Amino acid sequence: MEKGKKQIVMSGIRPTGFLHLGNYFGALRNYVRMQDEYECYFMVADLHSLTTHPDTKELKGHVHRVLAENIASGLDPEKAALFCQSHVRETSELYLYLNMLAYKGELEKTPTFKDKVRLQPDNVNAGLLTYPVLMAADILLHRAALVPVGKDQEQHLEIARTYATRFNHRYGDVFPGPQAFNFGQALVKVPSLDGEGKMSKSENQNATLYLADSDDVIRKKVKKAKSDSGPTEPNSVKPDYIENLFLLMSLVCEKDVIEKFESDYNNCTIQYGKLKEQLGEDMVKFIAPIREKAESIRTNEKYLNEVMEKGAEKARKSANATMEQVRKHMGLVY
Ligand code: TYM
Repeated sequence: MEKGKKQIVMSGIRPTGFLHLGNYFGALRNYVRMQDEYECYFMVADLHSLTTHPDTKELKGHVHRVLAENIASGLDPEKAALFCQSHVRETSELYLYLNMLAYKGELEKTPTFKDKVRLQPDNVNAGLLTYPVLMAADILLHRAALVPVGKDQEQHLEIARTYATRFNHRYGDVFPGPQAFNFGQALVKVPSLDGEGKMSKSENQNATLYLADSDDVIRKKVKKAKSDSGPTEPNSVKPDYIENLFLLMSLVCEKDVIEKFESDYNNCTIQYGKLKEQLGEDMVKFIAPIREKAESIRTNEKYLNEVMEKGAEKARKSANATMEQVRKHMGLVY
């Protein structure tokens, strides 16, 4: 890296529904922490959403919501480029070139592809198969080194690194190998409240806490979280669903509160009703200000258009510089 030059960061979120705590702690929290120190490109991945949501009636509203929730979480569009994927057309060109370095057999083995095939057997389109190629194009387009994402995106990052290496071998050094990133820790997976899988935009909605949930809905969802009658042996190993409750507490509760419940657990006096009440209140305290701010931004179309245009301009500049190198190295300059 050139001296004095900031490292490049890139990431994205699909506009397929309401954002939730998983998106916040896997992605948004990192974006906000990175925007001062790095050159950041953060986007709404509208093209990716077409692989699973071909009906675009609600797309505009969802794009606006994702932008608003990014800003309400603390992202400053003056510092980071905040843009919409389809506004940077160079993405499609790089996606095409990378497709020539992507092997069908490898793509078919990707766990996220297998999951989608199970979920939508009637729409196994080529875009779904090449989803990781488009994601690699998003990242490599800015020659990003760091990609803040949750644990579920780890394999996609591995694929992006493979394509970067393949391209560099075949045509010469253009791309750094991008790394999945979480501030100072392992990648995060925020579990759902029912102990089954992770929080998600479209599945498991009653067990997912959304940044747009009202105070009452938050309290109700937390109250219904899976628990049991408590341990009977001191210092027992926690079952997964209890471990999940403690993990959620670690995201929003004060340290001494968590320590008290840990010690109650270890000496078998824990009352899960009390724990959930506390967790519910702390979740409300955490989510309410983001929800209120997002609500006031979401309907301000003029402002959101300005943000998107400014972000896209910055992103196109970076994309153009990369694509010039790509075409030159590939020998596509005649
Ligand atoms: P998406 O829209 O599914 O999720 C957006 C971000 O939220 C993280 N995330 C989670 N983190 C922790 N716990 C959870 N329960 C949880 N659920 C979601 C995701 O890891 C992600 O960081 N393919 C991407 C979008 C994308 C992208 C990119 C990301 C398109 N191009 C380029 C990075 C770089 C996706 O579907 O994210």
